[in-house]
Amino acid sequence: MSDLNPILSGSAQSIAAYQDAIEQSTRAVVEWLKQPEMYQGKTVEQLRERINLNFTSQGLGNQAAIERAVEYFLKDSLLVHHAQCVAHLHCPSLVISQAAEVLINATNQSMDSWDQSPSATIIEIKLIEWLREQVGYAAGDAGVFTSGGTQSNLMGLMLARDAFFARQGHSIQQDGLIGDLSKIKVFCSESAHFSVQKNMALMGLGYRSVTQVKTDAFSRMDVADLKDKLAQAKANGEQVMAIVATAGTTDAGAIDPLADIAALAAEHQIWLHVDAAWGGALLLSEKYRNFLNGLQLADSVTLDFHKQFFQTISCGAFLLKDARHYELMRYQAAYLNSDFDEEAGVPNLVSKSLQTTRRFDALKLWMGLEALGKKQYAEIIDNGVTLARDVAEFVKTQPHLELVMEPQLASVLFRFRPESDDMAFVALLNQRIGDVLLASGSANVGVTEADGITCLKLTLLNPTVCLEDVKVLLASVKVTAEKLLKA
Ligand SMILES: Cc1ncc(COP(=O)(O)O)c(C=O)c1O
Repeated sequence: MSDLNPILSGSAQSIAAYQDAIEQSTRAVVEWLKQPEMYQGKTVEQLRERINLNFTSQGLGNQAAIERAVEYFLKDSLLVHHAQCVAHLHCPSLVISQAAEVLINATNQSMDSWDQSPSATIIEIKLIEWLREQVGYAAGDAGVFTSGGTQSNLMGLMLARDAFFARQGHSIQQDGLIGDLSKIKVFCSESAHFSVQKNMALMGLGYRSVTQVKTDAFSRMDVADLKDKLAQAKANGEQVMAIVATAGTTDAGAIDPLADIAALAAEHQIWLHVDAAWGGALLLSEKYRNFLNGLQLADSVTLDFHKQFFQTISCGAFLLKDARHYELMRYQAAYLNSDFDEEAGVPNLVSKSLQTTRRFDALKLWMGLEALGKKQYAEIIDNGVTLARDVAEFVKTQPHLELVMEPQLASVLFRFRPESDDMAFVALLNQRIGDVLLASGSANVGVTEADGITCLKLTLLNPTVCLEDVKVLLASVKVTAEKLLKA
């Protein structure tokens, strides 16, 4: 009778239904975790054919709904923790993050106002204070948890834009965009994340407002080109509202020269946002923290915990150096952040976020840090960086493989190189290797481009993966390539 009242509450009936549903789901997950294949290897067409919605007027009941989810969702999900699942910045999750999700979901706190999330609000504020300390910002609580890197980058760009217009006496918040918008530019490197373009379009400034600065042989922003392009922009009457530096580019893991870029930004009085969605993990590193030198000079920072902090999706943060800039996005809603409450010192996070209703994702980081401790956290982060270096050395010894670039974070860019200088052929072959491996269900290898030519990518976040696992994967790359070449 567990389905008579579907709402989670304190009634004995609801508690029993909750326990049954969670236990059934947990049992299913345990079975799924034991699956040997990374993926069952169904095609898009097969999944479209197989998956049907079954919304009946009477309802199926919890048990049957869970059974169907196991059959149609779980069994054909990708095993993100599998040693051969290394395509993306898509991490396996911490066990403690899963436990945190149980608490987050069951309590369903909403982070927009204190009266919807009393203890959660305080925990999130304390974590923001702690994260600021790690970055090297002054003490304070300007910052908020976000849905991830894209949203954090949007916050940085939006506040940069609004601060830029505010300096000219114009309030975007009140009056919207004005003037010759084609002159407003954002600078980032050619390897910066595409969310810079998407966010600029969203903000009414368009993809063309993004000026891409050249990168060096390691995909890092070329500071000399930045300098030249800033001078050119000035000569063209353009106005640069922000520079976005990246600490950990999506493919190469490149970290732009943050301190040099910050010096130029300061000289030209331009807002500096650092997208540390990936590289921010090094804040906890014992070996590589120095890669982030200069991060503290940024006006705003993106951090993302569902990458190399091993948290479940979603979990990110935005940090703002100077809390006064939050005034630029201030909006008061009588029911959430009234003057009365603010004067009484009631904290609210809605003023710091683009979201209203918001999950308590901060709990995952809090519990992760407490459970693992900084040392173990550092170890699992450093592991990926070290493994990538070892894999790169191995790739160099393989006659049929070409290392595209020395690794910087936990990724390795390489190609299968047949005896051919026809790069269009090489590109297609590598694309097909990635496709065939995924279709077989045995491995998920990233397919991307370096210098405009397709290559393969291993994103080695998973701390349970070792060099031997990667050698197995590289052997399948070779076998697949040879089969393709014969066909
Ligand atoms: C450098 C960088 N910034 C931002 C993002 C976007 O983050 P999210 O997917 O969490 O929105 C990514 C995603 O991979 C990224 O690699």
